[in-house]
Amino acid sequence: MTPRFLFFLIFPIILLQSVGAFLNCEQCLSQGKHYCADDKLCNSAICLNKITKSINCPRTPNATYDDVEARTKWLPLFGAGATNAKMAQKCFDNNWPTMKLSTRILVNCSDPSPILPTTECAMITAVDTSQRVLVMTFRATVGNTQLGEEILNYFVAKKKFFDIGYIFEFFYDAYVSLWRGGLETEIRNLKYKYPDYELWVTGHSLGAALASVGASWVVKSGIFRPERVKLMTAGQPRTGDYDYAMWHQNTFAYSFRLVHAHDVVPHVPFQEEIVDKDKMWHHRTEIWYNNDMTPGSPYKICPEADGLYCANQQLDLSWNDHTHYFNTDLDVYGDQGCPKKT
Ligand SMILES: *[C@@H]1O[C@H](CO)[C@@H](O)[C@H](O)[C@H]1NC(C)=O
Ligand SMILES: *[C@@H]1O[C@H](CO)[C@@H](O)[C@H](O)[C@H]1NC(C)=O
Repeated sequence: MTPRFLFFLIFPIILLQSVGAFLNCEQCLSQGKHYCADDKLCNSAICLNKITKSINCPRTPNATYDDVEARTKWLPLFGAGATNAKMAQKCFDNNWPTMKLSTRILVNCSDPSPILPTTECAMITAVDTSQRVLVMTFRATVGNTQLGEEILNYFVAKKKFFDIGYIFEFFYDAYVSLWRGGLETEIRNLKYKYPDYELWVTGHSLGAALASVGASWVVKSGIFRPERVKLMTAGQPRTGDYDYAMWHQNTFAYSFRLVHAHDVVPHVPFQEEIVDKDKMWHHRTEIWYNNDMTPGSPYKICPEADGLYCANQQLDLSWNDHTHYFNTDLDVYGDQGCPKKT
């Protein structure tokens, strides 16, 4: 190579560097500029997909997502959380035989609102003494009433969550009903009996939001260290605000949020709320299956917390995709005792 050629090769790079084009995403945003997701440069003049919030700076997750483990272990946990004690144990027997039900907690969790009927929230705890795992799995929305109530609440109020940020009042109140209704005593007992076990926290739909709150709650109340907690949710609605999502991603190394194709629920409430100007944000890491989720289906490990590259691309949203994960109808799977997939 001639020196002259080298100069023409290197000069543009030096020029770009001198204007800070090679700053990483966090540095770039801290200077009040945008980071361009397309060319990975800071403040690109021509940029289709601009990142303006540091929560969305591209990143690979700290833990490894395992599709097979999600289907064979976490899916039966979704099922167990959604059914009664007897069928929950059947879910374990059929899929994870060393897992034993500890308790089921069922409480009234609706707002004391005269126009809405009472609804119940449920969750299950379980212990596996051979794999040294404790489980908290939360039930989904039952029927449209409860979902309607959740959506109404989106426009009503948020509550301060410890010193972290704000979460939706409905999720907060529902979680507190469970916590006071026996979960706190139960989880403290389990932690005392099995001090070095991992805690796996999970749920689908409303259960997913409660799982997110639950994982945060046991860490904030000093019962578990975040390194011992694993979270996997399916079809989770936006649960808290930006600060909550940011704290979550800085706290939990193992946290995956499964989204099936056009599932409508991860899109509510909208990030750009009309009534409530405080934006709501998902926490990392979204795993997006834009297909029917049968075994072997591809998936995307989203580099952003709540950005443009995965499920947020979808405009046509589907309730059917919400109730089906891993090609399984979650409305009936638990009550059937989570028949083992072949
Ligand atoms: C919830 O409230 C209703 C009506 O007040 C009551 O009949 C029901 O037993 C309560 N459920 C639980 C789990 O406490
Ligand atoms: C994830 O990994 C990064 C880089 O090693 C580290 O700085 C960060 O603290 C880790 N986050 C969590 C929640 O473990």
